[in-house]
Amino acid sequence: MSERLDRVKAKLAKYGQEQVLKYYDELNEKEKDELLSQIEATDMEILDACNHKEDLVKRGVIEPLAAMELSEIEANKERFTDIGLEAIRSGKVGAVLLAGGMGTRLGSDNPKGMYNVGITHELYIFQCLINNLLDVVHQADTWIHLFVMTSDKNNEATVSFMEEHAYFGYNPKYVHFFKQEMAAATDYNGKIYLEEKAKLSTSPNGNGGWFISLEKAGLLDLVHNQGIEWINVFAVDNVLQRIADPCFVGATIDKKCVVGAKVVRKAAPDEKVGAMCLEDGKPSIVEYYDMTEELMNAKNEKGEPAYNFGVILNYLFYVPDLEKMMASLPLHIVEKKIPYLDENGRLVKPESPNGYKYENLVLDMIHQLDSCLPYEVVREREFAPIKNKTGVDSVESARALLEKNGVRL
Ligand code: UTP
Repeated sequence: MSERLDRVKAKLAKYGQEQVLKYYDELNEKEKDELLSQIEATDMEILDACNHKEDLVKRGVIEPLAAMELSEIEANKERFTDIGLEAIRSGKVGAVLLAGGMGTRLGSDNPKGMYNVGITHELYIFQCLINNLLDVVHQADTWIHLFVMTSDKNNEATVSFMEEHAYFGYNPKYVHFFKQEMAAATDYNGKIYLEEKAKLSTSPNGNGGWFISLEKAGLLDLVHNQGIEWINVFAVDNVLQRIADPCFVGATIDKKCVVGAKVVRKAAPDEKVGAMCLEDGKPSIVEYYDMTEELMNAKNEKGEPAYNFGVILNYLFYVPDLEKMMASLPLHIVEKKIPYLDENGRLVKPESPNGYKYENLVLDMIHQLDSCLPYEVVREREFAPIKNKTGVDSVESARALLEKNGVRL
């Protein structure tokens, strides 16, 4: 043990993280072993990034990328839908639900998908999403493989909830859970918090790790065996979104793009959504906080705002190109509320952000691929994200939009 402890201490000293052994002497043997194992397995190299945050995401040359707008989609709707349905019927389309997040803004202890948005009857977020996917299952008359990404923190709760509710009518043979990786969470100086005396604070490592985690879970074999060529990745929180939407699938295939991205027309030039663009000639997303005045005011040849389409975290990826692209993704440092032990060893669940989480984001995958089709959808019909309890992007706003779209609450 002592040699092992020495090695762990050396690692901690190298990264200036000795504080995590504060309670070591109070622990029993099993706890000591667990803590040492966790320290051994934790990537501490990345934590230094919080000291040079500004260098992390250096932007290239940003230029506009035209979207396929509603009028063009409408004019080709039948043809795109046929192409999409054909791909779905031949088993070429799967879906990945990103449900590994902590949903801290919503502030519920359960996974976000377990949130009940119903008023007169139960209607869970997971149920809304399954209902939306079932529309396509019925239209195509075939099941679609649904992969659900969870994390260490919410896997058990998610899996048992789905089982208890009989997958809301989905065929369990077509539902596959996999867990994403975790990363350490730190204070503002990059020091790892403890969440228990024998446990480092960790959080899921962002939604960008989904493809690698899918592979690590052995599910890429299933993707290959089943002949899945396209994967529609979508967020848990948008209760109105269409999943494996045949017209979207068909348009992306027809335009010979290796990614399709559903986008909405921005409500205002400074709206807080990432906008589709080209960066150094490759498809990319410029985050709202990187939108300069110049970009906000730029116009395209039609005289319309050049960066007018925001992403809604619903992407269709072509699997063979994803496999070629295994380069590492840039790191994002995100301010969050992180539960931690205070100086008296008591657990604190902070009311406001108190540190950083270290994440990879799915939007960075786009930039590593060669072609992307931004595909416009009608905001009121397909975009009702639930991030907060009230106000913008909340349970309230999503309920109003669900009702507007004829969903009984
Ligand atoms: P958000 O960026 O809204 O993060 O996730 P979040 O953790 O759910 O919520 P907050 O910020 O703590 O309130 C967008 C989507 O990405 C998934 C989420 O589940 C959601 O579908 N996600 C996020 C993951 O799957 N893993 C992660 O590590 C982070």
